[in-house]
Amino acid sequence: MENDKLTSGELQSYENEEIAVERTLRPQYLNQYIGQDKIKEQLDIFIKAAKMREESLDHVLLFGPPGLGKTTMAFVIANELGVNIKQTSGPAIEKAGDLVAILNELEAGDVLFIDEIHRLPMSVEEVLYSAMEDFYIDIMIGGADASRSVHLELPPFTLIGATTRAGMLSNPLRARFGINAHMAYYDLEDLTEIVTRTADIFETAITGDGAHEIARRSRGTPRIANRLFKRVRDFAQIKGTGIVNDDMTNQALTMLDVDGSGLDYIDQKIIKTMIEMYNGGPVGLGTLAVNISEERETLEDMYEPYLIQSGFLIRTRQGRRVTPKGYEHFGYVYTGEGK
Ligand SMILES: Nc1ncnc2c1ncn2[C@@H]1O[C@H](COP(=O)(O)OP(=O)(O)O)[C@@H](O)[C@H]1O
Ligand SMILES: [Mg+2]
Repeated sequence: MENDKLTSGELQSYENEEIAVERTLRPQYLNQYIGQDKIKEQLDIFIKAAKMREESLDHVLLFGPPGLGKTTMAFVIANELGVNIKQTSGPAIEKAGDLVAILNELEAGDVLFIDEIHRLPMSVEEVLYSAMEDFYIDIMIGGADASRSVHLELPPFTLIGATTRAGMLSNPLRARFGINAHMAYYDLEDLTEIVTRTADIFETAITGDGAHEIARRSRGTPRIANRLFKRVRDFAQIKGTGIVNDDMTNQALTMLDVDGSGLDYIDQKIIKTMIEMYNGGPVGLGTLAVNISEERETLEDMYEPYLIQSGFLIRTRQGRRVTPKGYEHFGYVYTGEGK
């Protein structure tokens, strides 16, 4: 228990730091948002058209792994539209009444951003359908014996939903989004630009090689790029001359157990456990989560997609398997198919 407390305390301050950093780093407008060119191009057109017609923008669904810029994009859209944004999340809206209270405060054209929208309770989701489609809600209020239905008209608004897993969204909800944006992992060039921009904001000198090396080890994810940058910056300040370069990056990331491909301690633990305890798989995600003491969701959202994208892991009907490439990368000899 002592241990658990310490961990969650550490996590808390770590998360606070992350939140503060992210606030300063968030691009405000589309032209500051690096990468995701196709999504930006489309949104730019839809936003301009909506503004020209003085209508609310169609509802937008953003999906992709954590840290790719969904929240950032929601705020960028609101800025571009020149409207207010209200932010909440699926788990935070426990009952229909909570949603009604939020909807009630919206002004015409406003953006309502619901993060983790796949975690909305079903009873809340059902209220959302008519709100999204025709801008009204019918709700029951009052106690068991004196309850009555109330019809509430809403101003036209834009719902922006973010989810790490599109597959978790119900069909009726998904169908009510006019604009679907699937965020992809960032390429090296875009990530290098993001790191360079971040260094600029923090007024830190960085070499081209340094930015490139941090980018290369950030698993295609801006949040990770920014986090690694901060750690390398600390390292360079204490162990070097303060300049973030190739060498400082290598030393700092080695110290942090981030390998040459950007895989970290948990990635290593996942593969190691799969190979040593399950002969490379197939193994179910739940079993794996228990074995390495991580949340199943964390594995599924943050670790698995990148391990799959890198070719170290595959999903099969029976469970997850380590690929021959995975064996090799993590220093194991591939012994053929697991049992
Ligand atoms: N395209 C981008 N350009 C620059 N920084 C970005 C970009 N996308 C994300 N970031 C930065 O990465 C971090 C994580 O982004 P965030 O929007 O919180 O991701 P998500 O909501 O998808 O988890 C933030 O600090 C944000 O400023
Ligand atoms: Mg987010």
